[in-house]
Amino acid sequence: MQVFIEKDYSAMSKKAAQIFANEIQQKPDLVLGLATGSTPIGTYQELIRMHKEEGLDFSKAVSFNLDEYYGLASDNPQSYNYFMFENLFNHVNIKKENVHIPNGLVSDVETYCKQYDEEIEKYGGIDLQLLGIGVNGHIGFNEPAEELVLGTHLTDLTEDTIKANSRFFDSPEEVPTKAITMGIGSIMKAKKILLLASGKNKAEIMAKLLNSDVVTTKVPASLLMLHPDVTIIMDEEAASLCK
Ligand code: F6R
Repeated sequence: MQVFIEKDYSAMSKKAAQIFANEIQQKPDLVLGLATGSTPIGTYQELIRMHKEEGLDFSKAVSFNLDEYYGLASDNPQSYNYFMFENLFNHVNIKKENVHIPNGLVSDVETYCKQYDEEIEKYGGIDLQLLGIGVNGHIGFNEPAEELVLGTHLTDLTEDTIKANSRFFDSPEEVPTKAITMGIGSIMKAKKILLLASGKNKAEIMAKLLNSDVVTTKVPASLLMLHPDVTIIMDEEAASLCK
């Protein structure tokens, strides 16, 4: 595992975007695993800049998003589908048919989730998976639990997550209580994983993750310790409690 501590959010985002850009340049048909939330926005902005100013080419790239709120239509401004188009896809030359985001309105969820994992496999698996981390240690929406699910599945969001994500909604009651998420196995199959953490509110969970030598489903991100190619990039605030 490689750990980088960058001065601030902007430096963290630039470093992450540089890793993305290097990978796309080496393999133009890169299969990207993408995240939403506040953390990757700066990385996406830097990738957009690289596309516009330096010709970074997404025309052959394929993407799979980690998760989507269950019950939200893709054109709902709170949906992760909407987020991805607003913050990245509308501004680079990725082909719409190469973009995959879980559909929050499917009725046969089980079959749909199976197909999502099969689709990832069809493209040869995820080459580079970008992750944020929840204040409770979740990755994707794999919440702390006694057991974690391997494949893509429907999950209940915890109170912590609903509270943390209520900042994007008018009130906590409006936050969906379920989401479709790639499972811990789907994430761990990625060839390379890049986890980003920024800000003081991530300091405690990053310390819990990095100051410990224990792997536990109670901190889903700790399973990343078992992956052969993980890079963590934090800003100084997120790293402030790490030994
Ligand atoms: C988002 C996702 C979540 C977030 C995490 C951190 O697609 O899978 O695990 O990465 O909740 O969110 P932010 O970046 O908003 O702090």
